[in-house]
Amino acid sequence: MEMFRRTYADINLENLIFNWNQIKKIAADDRFICPMIKANAYGHGDVQIGKTLEKEGANVLGVCLIEEGLLLRASGIKTDILVFRGFDKRGAEKIMEYQLTPVVSSWQQIQHLEAVADEPMKIHLKFNTGMSRLGFAPSEAEKLRQYFSNSKKLKLKAVLTHFTSGEDAASALGQSARQTQVFSQVFDYFKDMDVYAHLLNTGGIVGLAQLQSGPQIENPNKLLLQQKWGFRPGLMLYGYTGNELQGPAEFRAVMSLKSVVNNMRRLEVGDSVSYGSTWVAQRPSYIAVVPIGYADGIHRLVSNRGYALLNGERVPIVGRVCMDFLMLDATDVVEKTTPEQWVEEEVILFGYDDKNNFLSATEQALHTNTIVWETLTSVGERVPRHFRGLKKT
Ligand SMILES: Cc1ncc(COP(=O)(O)O)c(C=O)c1O
Repeated sequence: MEMFRRTYADINLENLIFNWNQIKKIAADDRFICPMIKANAYGHGDVQIGKTLEKEGANVLGVCLIEEGLLLRASGIKTDILVFRGFDKRGAEKIMEYQLTPVVSSWQQIQHLEAVADEPMKIHLKFNTGMSRLGFAPSEAEKLRQYFSNSKKLKLKAVLTHFTSGEDAASALGQSARQTQVFSQVFDYFKDMDVYAHLLNTGGIVGLAQLQSGPQIENPNKLLLQQKWGFRPGLMLYGYTGNELQGPAEFRAVMSLKSVVNNMRRLEVGDSVSYGSTWVAQRPSYIAVVPIGYADGIHRLVSNRGYALLNGERVPIVGRVCMDFLMLDATDVVEKTTPEQWVEEEVILFGYDDKNNFLSATEQALHTNTIVWETLTSVGERVPRHFRGLKKT
């Protein structure tokens, strides 16, 4: 569709590949790595992200919904696709038809698959070790092992669980350590069945990298080092490691959310900005009007709190964010220039500008009392994704 406003998400696939290679370095061996590209690849565009990762050697991709898996298949992606959410009988039929690999969390799902499978089907088995969301109770491990030892149709490939607090994965004293203990006991039941195990999300991978890099952790979670459990990286693929964490190696933001100055207004002392007049000029001011708003995923909570980059400088968001616009106090940048020259000038809501100045999506998340996962996945459907470094198929 032709676009008439210059607001878009600039998706840098070279940065994605860089992050993918950083993750593979931490894996350091032939560990299972399932890049998570659910929720439209955390807002980045699942088809292009999936195709790029497939080309870079990923032999499995993780999605939540069957619908997401079908979209990837329709785009020509051939690699294994792991579907995490669960399914009913109709879903089981689609999984079979499109050769998706289901993550199984209940006996009922096993029955659905047995009913539709007309040839041997690979499955992964999920255990609940603390999330209390999906997965079998660990106490079912022995029964499940017996079941899958005998099933002719369902081929158990892997067992998995999910960290509730991956950020404490390096320590023997946290919730992750309790989960790794339980999961290790579960995995023991399946050891003679040629199955592998996976659980490390971004927090877990950061924790493992900390353990690998030396003895600085006082109470290390040794199980995490000893077991070659697989990775399921989501956030770090897209360049972030979470609100509280510093990355173990450099990661590069894949998405830069960009717009332009629509018009520049001169305000006198006492003039106000936007709904509710929550910001009032205390000095003669220049206000940049930017055509991006909460309908595009800029949360209204950044009103009078967040920043954007204009000409490489941080400028505050002033007044309430509107559905389609927000306003910046650009006075310090504009003073001593002609205001008109700023119209159509690029504005960065997060990510990099063309001179590599950076504003973190984590910072925008903190200003809105949320996490960077939500900031990225909130970028709206009406924001077009422009892909840099897209290779021809
Ligand atoms: C089952 C599962 N594995 C892995 C991930 C990836 O987590 P992260 O984005 O923290 O790497 C998620 C994300 O929510 C998930 O639900």
